[in-house]
Amino acid sequence: MERFVIQGGARLEGEIPASGSKNAALPALAACLLTGEAVVLRRVPRVRDIRTMEKLLAYIGAELVLEPNGPLHVRAAVIQDPTAPYELVKTMRASSLVLGSLLARTGRARVSMPGGCAIGARPINLHVHALEQLGATLTQEGGYIEARAPNGLRGTRINFDRITVTGTEDVLMAAVLAEGETVLENAAREPEVGDLAALLVKMGAKIEGAGTSVMRVQGVSRLGGAEHTIIPDRIEAGTFLLAGAITGGDLVVANCELDHLGALIGKLREAGAEVEPAGAAALRVRAPRPLQAVDLITEEHPGFPTDLQAQYLALMTQAQGIAFITETIFENRFMHALELIRMGANIRIEGRQAIVAGPAALSGTTVMASDLRASASLVLAGLVARGETVIDRVYHIDRGYESIESKLALAGAKIRRLEE
Ligand code: EPU
Repeated sequence: MERFVIQGGARLEGEIPASGSKNAALPALAACLLTGEAVVLRRVPRVRDIRTMEKLLAYIGAELVLEPNGPLHVRAAVIQDPTAPYELVKTMRASSLVLGSLLARTGRARVSMPGGCAIGARPINLHVHALEQLGATLTQEGGYIEARAPNGLRGTRINFDRITVTGTEDVLMAAVLAEGETVLENAAREPEVGDLAALLVKMGAKIEGAGTSVMRVQGVSRLGGAEHTIIPDRIEAGTFLLAGAITGGDLVVANCELDHLGALIGKLREAGAEVEPAGAAALRVRAPRPLQAVDLITEEHPGFPTDLQAQYLALMTQAQGIAFITETIFENRFMHALELIRMGANIRIEGRQAIVAGPAALSGTTVMASDLRASASLVLAGLVARGETVIDRVYHIDRGYESIESKLALAGAKIRRLEE
């Protein structure tokens, strides 16, 4: 197993580029199963979750070719086995994204139940219920969800009980090949959903209202090939902005989409950091003065993303005052807080709220990564801790960050990856 070793105390200065979005590339890959023609995807990040999705597509029967430093070509001419096996789903819940596309393409899908994960129960009941409304029959057997729609899917009005990102994506992929009109109400407005809709439209789908909470889909009988560039990863970009701020640095994060980062930019400014556009697709962050504590509530987009809560919490350990951080999306997403406390942070957890008193002098020690974003928060803490921080189980961070240590080192961070 690999670990990171970080020497704290370096200010980040310079420029770090963001990669393509993991959470936009995952549904884009699932969408490739909707057609027998080639789909060419650019800016697919080379992270572990993407490799898992690629394995899943190959298992199902798709051919994938990655040009060196170039686009990924995917062609699912034949669906050999419309199954997402347990071995792949257990390592990545988002494998359930193939449920909608397989069902729409072949009238059948078999997807292992996701089970628990480090950030809570995370069921897929909303995906299942919506697909049933489209006319599919879903049963559960031997740990698998079996979905069938031998006579195809029929458009209808679907109102999600609560907002779900991959649920919206899954059902959108089913609806584009359903007969007639589907209306998705209370749909997720995350930019990743909009990016999926943009790809589907290039493939021939008819979708209106992407990016709003009501989407209208006119079903078509077939989709074709397309070329598409994945949006930049707003969570990776946000993690680097927070890294710049926590180190009191002067950092430019390049290749980012400013409009996708509004909630974070607002919080950083409130806390006393300076964030300015640096050209059309880059942001400069500086933190020349001590940061102030600012409360936070995670919300669906355009609110503050739960995927940056852990990293923001690390920032608040260094801010003056008391910050109340409320997690509303997932019930168990404060694992990083316990490790931050071991580094000297002053945090109390009360149900869905973390109460952080700062600034606290953090000191380096060995900490354990528990999930992807929790690991990123430990890296941020390591950057400002006195002495050496060792982060075990960095495979969690490799799920969603493309070589985070090399990117941070570009801006002067003292971070190395070591074999244990
Ligand atoms: N939920 C249900 N039933 C469902 C689906 C969701 O009860 O059928 C609940 C979840 O348990 C959760 C809430 O609804 O409490 C929202 O979950 P959502 O479905 O939106 O999450 P997701 O689609 O499984 C995606 C991202 C996550 C991100 C969340 C929230 C991908 C592949 N994953 O997950 O990203 O945290 O949306 O924005 O897009 C990450 O990248 O680290 C990550 C966890």
